Amino acid sequence: MEDWKFSYENWVPEEQALRETLCTLGNGYFATRGAAEESSADGINYPGTYLAGGYNRLKSDIAGRTIENEDLVNWPNWLPLTFRHPKEKWFGLSEVTVVYFKQEVDLKTGVLTRQLRFRDKSNRETSLTSRRFVSMDQPHLAAMLWELTPENWSGPIEIRSALDGNICNLGVARYRQLSNCHLNITETGEAENHNFIYLVAETNQSRVRMAMAARTRISGSLPTDCSEYVYKKRKGFIAQHAIVNCEKQQSIRVEKVVAVYTSRDLAISEPALEAKNSVERAAGFSELLEEHSRVWGLLWKRCDVIVSSTERTQQVLRLHIFHLLQTVSVHSAGMDVGLPARGWHGEAYRGHIFWDELFIFSFLNFRIPELTRDLLMYRYRRLPEARLAAREAGYRGAMFPWQSGSNGREESQIIHMNPKSGRWIPDNTFRQRHINAAVAYNVWQYYQTTNNVTFLSWYGAEIVFEIALFWSSLTTWSEEKQRFEIKGVVGPDEYHTQYPGTDSTGLNNNAYTNLMAVWVLQFALKLPDLIHYERIEELYAKLHISEPEVQRWRDICKLMFIPFLDPVGPVISQFEGYEKLQELDWNKYRKTEDDMLRLDRILESEGDDVNRYKASKQADVLMLFYLFSTEKLIELFSMLGYRFTPECIAENIAYYEPRTSHGSTLSTIVHAWVLARSDRKRSWGDFQTALLSDVEDIQGGTTPEGIHLGAMAGSVDLVQRCFTGLVIYNDELLLNPVLPDKIYYMELRLKYREHWFSLRITQEKLVLAADKEWTDEIAINIRGTVTRFKAGEVHEFPLKQS
Ligand code: BGC
Repeated sequence: MEDWKFSYENWVPEEQALRETLCTLGNGYFATRGAAEESSADGINYPGTYLAGGYNRLKSDIAGRTIENEDLVNWPNWLPLTFRHPKEKWFGLSEVTVVYFKQEVDLKTGVLTRQLRFRDKSNRETSLTSRRFVSMDQPHLAAMLWELTPENWSGPIEIRSALDGNICNLGVARYRQLSNCHLNITETGEAENHNFIYLVAETNQSRVRMAMAARTRISGSLPTDCSEYVYKKRKGFIAQHAIVNCEKQQSIRVEKVVAVYTSRDLAISEPALEAKNSVERAAGFSELLEEHSRVWGLLWKRCDVIVSSTERTQQVLRLHIFHLLQTVSVHSAGMDVGLPARGWHGEAYRGHIFWDELFIFSFLNFRIPELTRDLLMYRYRRLPEARLAAREAGYRGAMFPWQSGSNGREESQIIHMNPKSGRWIPDNTFRQRHINAAVAYNVWQYYQTTNNVTFLSWYGAEIVFEIALFWSSLTTWSEEKQRFEIKGVVGPDEYHTQYPGTDSTGLNNNAYTNLMAVWVLQFALKLPDLIHYERIEELYAKLHISEPEVQRWRDICKLMFIPFLDPVGPVISQFEGYEKLQELDWNKYRKTEDDMLRLDRILESEGDDVNRYKASKQADVLMLFYLFSTEKLIELFSMLGYRFTPECIAENIAYYEPRTSHGSTLSTIVHAWVLARSDRKRSWGDFQTALLSDVEDIQGGTTPEGIHLGAMAGSVDLVQRCFTGLVIYNDELLLNPVLPDKIYYMELRLKYREHWFSLRITQEKLVLAADKEWTDEIAINIRGTVTRFKAGEVHEFPLKQS
């Protein structure tokens, strides 16, 4: 496989749902799964078109209660294009014998191509090449081109190009018992001049209106005049039909250009009007393609990461970058959308936004920080809702939801179905208050990388102060411990949501949460040194931050409780009372279950409860070593009066590694990272697992429902920051590259505080080149030695001796 091409060489119906997800095309504004143009949702194919931030809420009666979920809506399908011989069925792969099949996404240009040769029941052989793209140049446009060649026959065929509004959300089997029809089709029609068809849909709760218009042109051996087109309507469906006479071995071309507008768009009059105008004015396939590919070229110039290793490693890294850039782009900027954990590629987790940003933003910070800023604004705009949530729960400040969608309300489901047992069970994962630390951490990372004080001053600081107020009010004083503590939360490891045998939910003193809370308070205390005192005064006044409150932050930063398995360390206890849990018989589950990634589901189906065991779904304590450098951890622990040495890290990894099932794809990212320096072989194994998360659907069925964006971007970030040893600490950029044995060479460009530079690294040396446009001198610390770089300078550093 070429490393820019992501291809499938055969037709395997059972793999189609997975392939559709991985062949999704999008531009940050909307995305469409890689379904075949002639297909519809039928158990094998699942066409899906999703609008960035296109949500709708529906109520469902389930398990004796009424619940409301907010879903990422599957909008009308703009793909339909098919043909038939007179009086026969419409073409579909299940109706013919497939003689040749190849499907390929060109990652460089963002084009999906499918090449087919098939034989029908009358022994007619036909070749079909379809190409399509969702324009990265013009966010409202998509286009496709069909080239159909009769290999051994001649005669008339009927071509149908349609817009299908009869769409419900059916992409995730375990949600199917819930209400899933979000759309009303309010209008369908064709242009008076017969140039296009259109369809208008509106969501039945959020009242978002989407208009699509499609222009279809046919050319080839026997071009058909537009006037011969016939328009056919049925409820929610509009189609343009044409009869074309085919000549043996002469190709006909069908070109379909589609425009999509919604009532959420900026600078529009009305979506249907814009869609119609846009499709009428749009250039043809080839011209649109040229511009689209040009924009992809520019994106790759900023974003490519070159890695000489196994061919698969390079290719999958590019696939990951490709899908990230299709989810968030300049076209999503300003649209008030967040970054969904599963991309706009399917319906898993309903398009919700979690803490996964923590694994994703760094890639953007170092390349297109404008996008991170925009995604942080998604959080800023939802402060009012987060304030309300904090107040209703009895806290101060702002409490961001574990799962966020349209307006920032908590969107976590309250019950979920265990597909293993078929039972609906309570879902208490919403108690993951650590999401708030992630939001603040993301503000810090963005600020560190860009030095954008204006953002910090106007928006970032307010987010951080509000989160600090929340942590401070959630924290209580324990007379017994003579320390502060946080009770009733869930850590990143979602297997543990309560103490076994108790009714109340949440756990006490999750170490990760407690330390992150301290870190946020420390950040809040530092803000007066970073931004103008007048702005601090304004914010203190606006948010009612008093001196005693600030003093409380200082006190918590000295006396927060962190549980250890043994009071003198060194193994941090995931939460208080963890030591009382039982050891799991891992061998039993490794032997009996191919896939023991979702132990919670397996145990529940056996009438047991994962809460009883020392078994984690994903990295929890180890998250600390992922997010913080050793220096920073030593600083934090010593501020709290705990002994912590670099050796403690290895002991914690050794303890938690065998007790983690990696039921979240985020987990191997963290493990690969924390092992990168101490156990390169195991780290490489975890890195490879993370790389395969989606391409091989390692969770056995989750990728068909959407990509795992955290693992995708996180794997690229491993190359970018972990393998290069890139850290920003105390305003200094540090590099300490250690390549895995299997990487011979890597090359990437990074933007640090408005300065682009490139890194070329082999096992032997690092070559660092400053861009010729640099305006200042920048000091970079390479393995402890500081070098000052000026514009255009290139320096080489040997790496072997350390
Ligand atoms: C993980 C969470 C993650 C979510 C969305 C869950 O399975 O446990 O950490 O945020 O998926 O990716």
